[in-house]
Amino acid sequence: MTLSSLSPVLETVSEAHRLRLDPISTPERLLLGPGPSNAHPTVLQALSRPPLGHLDPLYLELMNEVQEMLRYAWQTENRITIPVSGTGSAAMEATIANSIEAGESVVVGVIGYFGQRLVDMCGRYGADLHVIEAPWGEALSLEAIAQALEQHKPKVLALVHAETSTGVCQPLEGVGDLCREHNCLLLLDTVTSLGAVPLKLDELKVDLAYSCSQKGLSCPPGLGPLTMGPRAEEKLDRRQSKVPNWYLDMSGLKSYWGTDRTYHHTAPVNMNFGLREALRLLCEEGIENAWARHRRNSERLWAGLEAQGLELHVPLELRLPTLTTVRIPEGVDGRAFGLHLLNKHGVEIGGGLGALAGQVWRIGLMGTNSTPANVDLLLNLLELELPAFRSAAAAA
Ligand SMILES: Cc1ncc(COP(=O)(O)O)c(C=O)c1O
Repeated sequence: MTLSSLSPVLETVSEAHRLRLDPISTPERLLLGPGPSNAHPTVLQALSRPPLGHLDPLYLELMNEVQEMLRYAWQTENRITIPVSGTGSAAMEATIANSIEAGESVVVGVIGYFGQRLVDMCGRYGADLHVIEAPWGEALSLEAIAQALEQHKPKVLALVHAETSTGVCQPLEGVGDLCREHNCLLLLDTVTSLGAVPLKLDELKVDLAYSCSQKGLSCPPGLGPLTMGPRAEEKLDRRQSKVPNWYLDMSGLKSYWGTDRTYHHTAPVNMNFGLREALRLLCEEGIENAWARHRRNSERLWAGLEAQGLELHVPLELRLPTLTTVRIPEGVDGRAFGLHLLNKHGVEIGGGLGALAGQVWRIGLMGTNSTPANVDLLLNLLELELPAFRSAAAAA
């Protein structure tokens, strides 16, 4: 059969399968869940700039700026500090792929759902895994961490700084020193803390950390910042085996982000435009001011929730300023209430995840969304809408 005799058939088929859709139109939502959070308007403008080539000198300059501002956001001097192409999980996988070799002892702290994801990923990379756990809503003690390092002599200790499933902030004082004493790398998930929760990586002696673009940084999802300190870089250079994941291998990626500028993969240039703007806004505000703003607004939220008789899941001293877990009142259908807020008011809050599914709502105040006006709006909505759901629960 010739091509020309095929074409009438193809035309008929493609005509039958042609979708005729209107141009995309999305509603304005206020995203007060666990993430993504709303993007700042100027970040959205930056995203819509015409793309540049990923080796264009102007883009190379932008890459330098992004790296420098990420160092500031994390308070680190780490040379390798880059946004990985992909979401937070891609950056999570990159830290693991580049720091662990099969058979090595690794201790993972699990205080919620994302600690479990770390366990899953470390297992896939062949780690000799040792898990230390705390109940969902609590944090690990320094003693428990010290004991695990003593007992399992790990090459890497992996912890979640801001556990989004529970709203707990893992205290880190003393952990970095312990890791140095035991010649072990400290790997930290900062997905729900970067740009919003006090965190000075170098002071805390964190060797590897990763994050995301869509929470404290007020950018849409799509990039996963990653940073790797000198001890982690040295371990990478001494590896016996190749990093088993080509796309996330820092040995290749660092050439593109460093001085060589060797092509690795086509960078998502527009996402990086957005991240540059998000980081520029953070630098303009000042990191300490951003931390203080998140704290102030979450305290306003906590006081308002408690004034309405709602119970917070996490004790005050461990609470995250970015993510608050609220116990769903007895008998109330938490999922139906969340959907009601979304459909009637365009406001999203999150439900519970993993062990807390059906038990809590998760309220996020992250990045540009962390404002007194948003807190008051949500508190007013709860006051207005929750009584009917409570009455329905009482009547049932
Ligand atoms: C603590 C934590 N780690 C990792 C992730 C994974 O990030 P992503 O969903 O962007 O892949 C999330 C996502 O919310 C998270 O909250």
